[in-house]
Amino acid sequence: MPTIKAINHVAVVVDDMEKSLSFWRDALGIELHELRDVPAEKSQVAFLPLAGAEVELVMPTTDDSGIAKYLAKRGPGMHHLCLEVDDIEGMMKELKAKDIRLINEEPRTAADGKKYAFVHPESTGGVLVELYQL
Ligand code: CO
Repeated sequence: MPTIKAINHVAVVVDDMEKSLSFWRDALGIELHELRDVPAEKSQVAFLPLAGAEVELVMPTTDDSGIAKYLAKRGPGMHHLCLEVDDIEGMMKELKAKDIRLINEEPRTAADGKKYAFVHPESTGGVLVELYQL
């Protein structure tokens, strides 16, 4: 039985990285581990690890990505919650069997080899959920 292991990260979409960091890093005092351009996602991402999980601030760098369209439509705010799972294929199969709507039919593989897939907010009470296998 596939098992959820942890909350891996919370992703927040932002339109102004410095302004956003002035809250998360400067006001709250969470350490900024890395600020990186992610060309594959057409985004700049700030990683702020916290107690085994991470806050990720994602700022689109073009107007044509999915996340840029999300930002244009809904404004800055919470984007997704990522849960680590030990068997992503198994979990996706179980979710499908339970009529949960998935955005990705198959897991995608990131540059660093991790597998991930998204569950549609329609099936989760309005939260975009990312599944992630290390
Ligand atoms: Co994510």
